[in-house]
Amino acid sequence: MEQIAFSYNEIHQTVAELAARITSSDYDPEVIVAIGTGGYIPARIIKTFLKLPIYTVGISLYLEDHTTLPSPRKIQWIDEVEQKLEGKRILLVDEVDDSRTTLEYCIRELLAHSPAALSVAVLHNKNKEKRGVIPAEVAHYWAGQELPDAWIKYPWDAVDIVQHDQAADAKAVPADA
Ligand code: G4P
Ligand code: MG
Repeated sequence: MEQIAFSYNEIHQTVAELAARITSSDYDPEVIVAIGTGGYIPARIIKTFLKLPIYTVGISLYLEDHTTLPSPRKIQWIDEVEQKLEGKRILLVDEVDDSRTTLEYCIRELLAHSPAALSVAVLHNKNKEKRGVIPAEVAHYWAGQELPDAWIKYPWDAVDIVQHDQAADAKAVPADA
């Protein structure tokens, strides 16, 4: 499978553009909910622009031996702050919209706690057939970049960040793949 590497700077830039689109929309989020672990760093960068508190949730579709579970499983959930989300306008943040399974699970769990509204922002959306759906209650869906169905290499997964940045510099991503 094709691989595409992104540097921290490219991700920061994508988030800056994404945040500008959110700011100029009619949606005025009050809290960010980051889906761990991939959503943590993008959510923190969004906070630089939107200046909102961040809550985090941890979800996994895989076991430690990388076998896939039939449905996502909670690793860590909001629990005691769940009531704080009631009546709030949520911005749910993740790094990648891939199969959409985890995303749909999180959206439905959060909607069950009566937020005033929920919108989704992902850094990257892969253009592919999705297993999950974005429920109709979702007010907005923003993707920082649309990508082909490749394997995305994120800088926070790099063991050797210098080598990772060289791969990021060398890539040629189609502008509107
Ligand atoms: P989705 O609902 O957001 O589409 O996610 P999906 O369940 O399809 O993805 C399962 C896991 O695979 C997620 O990680 C997601 O971040 C990761 N993933 C999917 N595509 C890519 C990719 O191209 N590159 C990388 N690096 N990761 C990808 P997770 O199980 O939630 O773990 P975590 O890594 O976020 O902690
Ligand atoms: Mg993830």
